[in-house]
Amino acid sequence: MSGILKPLRIGTVTLETPLVLAPMAGVCDLPYRVIARRHGAALVCAEMVSAKGLVYGNKHTRDMLTVADGEHPLSMQIFGAEPDIMARAAAAAESCGADIVDINMGCPVRKVVTNGEGAALMRDLPLAEKIVAAVVRAVSVPVTVKMRTGWDAASFTATELAKRCERAGAAAITVHGRTRDQFYSGTADLAKIAAVVRSVSIPVFGNGDVTDGRSAERMAEQTGCAGIMIGRGAQGNPWIFRQVEAYLRDRTVVPPPTAKERCALILEHFDSLLAFKGEYVGLREMRSHASWYTKGMYASAALRQRINKAVSPDEFRGIIREAVSVFEKRVD
Ligand SMILES: Cc1cc2nc3c(=O)[nH]c(=O)nc-3n(C[C@H](O)[C@H](O)[C@H](O)COP(=O)(O)O)c2cc1C
Repeated sequence: MSGILKPLRIGTVTLETPLVLAPMAGVCDLPYRVIARRHGAALVCAEMVSAKGLVYGNKHTRDMLTVADGEHPLSMQIFGAEPDIMARAAAAAESCGADIVDINMGCPVRKVVTNGEGAALMRDLPLAEKIVAAVVRAVSVPVTVKMRTGWDAASFTATELAKRCERAGAAAITVHGRTRDQFYSGTADLAKIAAVVRSVSIPVFGNGDVTDGRSAERMAEQTGCAGIMIGRGAQGNPWIFRQVEAYLRDRTVVPPPTAKERCALILEHFDSLLAFKGEYVGLREMRSHASWYTKGMYASAALRQRINKAVSPDEFRGIIREAVSVFEKRVD
């Protein structure tokens, strides 16, 4: 047993368990964060927002930082490359209700890195350190940094960057065990995460390819990380947090949710999305969530096709209610 399953302190914030939901653009909006918290994520991370968008009052960016009562503790992630703008954005995030401000140094997307933001900061360590120091000075909540292992196979800068982040006052670090060059290909390099864990004394979250209890245990044992961040494994699958928790506690394998539970959560998630984003956006965004929720279930491909054609909330709900009886006969 790894012994990882205990409360974890990130500066002034104490997490009940070390299991957290990764920030994911297009996934971790308010409705899903509330669901993930209720299903056992000890910390949820909002989608990354542009520091410039936040500072220059972009309404869409501000809307992305709306917070619900049920989701604290909540981490808000900002990306940018200018220390002053990042500091002001962090202060804005704090005033929106962030319990933790996270700095994105891992985003691999071309549009982001060509501006020197996201993973590009792994190639400019002095600037990265300045950004962390400026953000730490600007807020009273803990500041964390999320990074990859490096830019490419030839530049494993995560240990050096982690040390600089710690020196600049970061309260914790997350390492996704891939380089920027890899995007999402290959597998997470746990040895590199372990090297970062050894190089700093602040908590390090291991991230990458955790999809169940066993992969979580492997992450904990092979890296010595203090916490585990789960991304894609939690898409349409908030149950993963309790499953991982039970496995890490005593290797209990919690059975997957029944068709009825899945469909009930889809309907609840849908209502919350409609209330938060309106009918047009809610219906469209729910298509991706619904396909994740039903992945691997009997006739899920046919269900997806029907869902994608649904033009009204009532039609969508009808399809999901019908699906329960189909799933119940054929799965579980
Ligand atoms: C759809 C999607 C959106 C993402 N958006 C963000 C983001 O906004 N900020 C960030 O730091 N990482 C983002 N990531 C990366 C994840 O947080 C995580 O580091 C990565 O998916 C590896 O973890 P996993 O194997 O558990 O998914 C995103 C990943 C996905 C799949």
